[in-house]
Parts: sequence; C-alpha cells; structure tokens
Amino acid sequence: MKIYPSLLSSDFGRLLEEVRAVEAAGADGLHVDVMDGAFVPNLTLGPVVLKGLKGRTKLPLDCHLMVQRPDDLLEAFRDAGATGITVHVESGPHLQRTLARIRELGCRPGVSINPATPFESLEWVLDDVDLILSMTVNPGFGGQKLIPAALRKTEKMISWIKSKTDRKIEVQIDGGLNAQNSTSVRNIGVDIAVAGTAVFGAKDYTTAIRELKGLP
Ligand code: DX5
Ligand code: ZN
Repeated sequence: MKIYPSLLSSDFGRLLEEVRAVEAAGADGLHVDVMDGAFVPNLTLGPVVLKGLKGRTKLPLDCHLMVQRPDDLLEAFRDAGATGITVHVESGPHLQRTLARIRELGCRPGVSINPATPFESLEWVLDDVDLILSMTVNPGFGGQKLIPAALRKTEKMISWIKSKTDRKIEVQIDGGLNAQNSTSVRNIGVDIAVAGTAVFGAKDYTTAIRELKGLP
C-alpha cells in the first residue's frame, strides 16, 4: 500500500522542508487538500501556494479538490504542478465533463465520494477515472476518526470495480488512518492511503510511514 502524506497536517511555515522530509522518509506521493470554505467549512491553499513546490520534489502532487466549482480551477492547478486532480462527485452536475477535462489537461483524473455517498453512482464514469478516493471521514479537517462503515463500503467498492471494468483503477482512502487500523485498510486491498496526523504528528516520519505500510 502506498502512503501519501497529507500536507494539511504539515507545518506550513516550513512547507518545502516538510515535503523533503516525507520524501526522504519513504512517502510515495503528496496529498494536497484544497478547501474553499464553501463545499467544506475549512479554507486551505490554492494553486499559488502549490506552485512553490513545483519542480522541487520528485513525488507526485495529488490534489484533492474539496470545492464547489472545481471546473474553474483545473487549469490553474495543472499549471501549478498538479500531477493528479481528484474532484468530488458531490461537487457538481457535470462530473464526466470535469473528469474528461482533467485528462485533457494531462493530469490523472480522480473522483472522490463522501462517506454517505453510494459508490454505484460512479458506474458511468469508470472509463474516465484512474483513481477513486473513498473518504473515510467527512471532508474538512485533519485528525478525525475513521468511520468504520466507510471502510466496509470501500471493501465492497473494490470488488464492485473489478466486476465492472478490466481497467486498473487505483483505490485511495482518506481520513483517520493510523497505526492501529492500517492493517485492516491494507487487507481490504486499498492501493493508496492518505495520512495526515499519522505522519506529520509523528516524531519520526520514516518509522510512521513504515508502520502504516506494515513494514518491519
Ligand atoms: C480531510 C482531508 C484529509 C485529511 C486527512 O478533509 O481530505 O486529507 O488531511 O487527515 P488525517 O489523516 O489526519 O485524518
Ligand atoms: Zn484529502
């Protein structure tokens, strides 16, 4: 299982340093939480800040857009260095168009579903995504507790995806991952797990990441 540390829990005053530290500690990618204060109550960063990391890390910059109007921001995020862009199915009415646009811009298209959203709503965009992000907390804040039903849903979703398509679509979970529940997350076949507090809240990032991956 790959681990993408979520920059939301990093020290923004030392952002680049934090990025380099998790890169050296064995992170597989970076998770960039973009919140607009409308789709979710919290407000974080935009393309202007992301641009400061462009070309300064080898890790993929995976942007999780928790915003009401993702379409307005796609190009700016691509220009700022995003390698992947994930939008919420709950964000807008023209999901397929949004996903096709992300691919057209040369980024990896992903779609995210909130804990209460059924995965079956993704059936007709399976050709358009390379990643499905199943939220294991309600988006908006780091440091929340993983919702068990959301993980049970993710397990069902993984078999459902395999029954619907031969394409490899990576499955990612986001929210509440820790050393205690990471074994069950790995066991259900999650490809990528996002970890905010579990990495940036740890004294030693290398140990934290190895633990989440189940490595000795
Ligand atoms: C929540 C964000 C998450 C968050 C995860 O809205 O999408 O990426 O940073 O943080 P932890 O791992 O602390 O739950
Ligand atoms: Zn996120």
